[in-house]
Amino acid sequence: MNTLMEESFLDTENAEPHAFYDRVRARGDVVWDERMQAWLVVGNEVARAALQDDELFMHPFSTMQAGSAYAKIRGENPRSFFFLHGEKHHEMHRWWVRDLLSPQWVNRYRPAAIEPAITGLLERLEGRDEFDLVNDFITHLPVEVFARLLDLPRKDRAFLAELKQLNDNIAAFASVASALKLEAAEVSEETRRITDCAVAAAQKLDEILRPVVIDRATNRGEDMISRLWLGGPNIFPDWNEVDTLDACRRLLFAGIDTTTHALANAFYMLLTDADLMARVRAGGREAVERFAEEALRLNGTVQFRSRRVTADTVLGGVPIAKGQMIVVILMAANRDPKAFVCPHAVDLERPQARNHLAFLTGPRTCPGSGLARAELVGGLHAMLERYPNLHLSGGGQPSFHGFMMRSYGPLQVSTKAPATNTTSTGTQP
Ligand code: HEM
Repeated sequence: MNTLMEESFLDTENAEPHAFYDRVRARGDVVWDERMQAWLVVGNEVARAALQDDELFMHPFSTMQAGSAYAKIRGENPRSFFFLHGEKHHEMHRWWVRDLLSPQWVNRYRPAAIEPAITGLLERLEGRDEFDLVNDFITHLPVEVFARLLDLPRKDRAFLAELKQLNDNIAAFASVASALKLEAAEVSEETRRITDCAVAAAQKLDEILRPVVIDRATNRGEDMISRLWLGGPNIFPDWNEVDTLDACRRLLFAGIDTTTHALANAFYMLLTDADLMARVRAGGREAVERFAEEALRLNGTVQFRSRRVTADTVLGGVPIAKGQMIVVILMAANRDPKAFVCPHAVDLERPQARNHLAFLTGPRTCPGSGLARAELVGGLHAMLERYPNLHLSGGGQPSFHGFMMRSYGPLQVSTKAPATNTTSTGTQP
């Protein structure tokens, strides 16, 4: 009953996974995936319990086969945020939540980085009746924001496209590593190629960022690199160039791809549901904020995270042996009917709208959630205001591609009044 033999979570790559999540849920909150050699966790309550306990369900990278590639990608820095556990991790996490990415700083980043990035991108669309929302707007927004937050000397399109591509190469590795593909007895050629490409990309990114990091050690401003230099010594008294460079890349990696996918998913939901689009438009900024939470809950970026079990235990009534992996499917837990009324529907009045797992929960909760929300709400609101008739133009059928991180694309849109109304479904897939 609690074992998947005939199908695997791995089959849902580049496909709509929600019917699969429902089938797993029908078997239980914790189900063994034979092909993945891991326990899939789909129940909301058990997912929360596992994510809260960072000792028993440990962040796994340092204990995985993928660990050596991760180490190379993190510049062989054992005190990277990425590899820290226990008290040191909590200290670093607290610093990023309470200072580096705090609500106060996000309020300053909004006019200084987010709004100018949005305005600049909308200006580039001037005069175009049709465009691909993903390629012409969404893909550029988070990287444009980060170029400002880090105050990179170059902010031209070619440079930012390179930055984004290098970051994407690392994200591709994170996806195969999280899917435990490097833990398999036979690692495919494709997985090896993706791994090598990510290591090369990390080195190239270091080359690009190192001169800026060195410069800011002395020429400090209010940008994030300067603030890493300022706050780092509170965590490690001998905080150095390697630490700043690594933290800088951690910001880029964690903040760009995730937010890009989140924007694409939110726009997809609006563009495929005319009734929802009308309700969000009518409700103004507050409705956009509420909708953004539902988009994150229903189709958030990060589908799942894996953890290593450090002692024999029982989770959701299922015995799990020390050393086994669990894969917490955040997006399944976010549609658990035991946790959410009408779990598959968008509810703009949902109480405790932020009580989802898109940003995780527990000691490793995403410290960038405030910034991500500001970009998501800012991008959605500005686009809806600027284009009152925005609708899918019919060129290219959007599909839900990816695995660990996923989004819909392409989103070919027209800004002219549509000839006929789009059919409303009222619920999301
Ligand atoms: C919609 C956008 C985003 C989503 C869905 C998202 C989601 C997540 C999730 C699920 C984790 C937990 C990973 C794990 O422990 O296994 C995480 C961690 C993290 N996120 Fe985000 N994130 C987003 C945007 C951002 C942004 C904009 C930043 C930074 C500016 C950021 C910085 C981080 C960092 C540093 C961690 C690691 C925290 C730790 O290990 O304690 N994220 N994020």
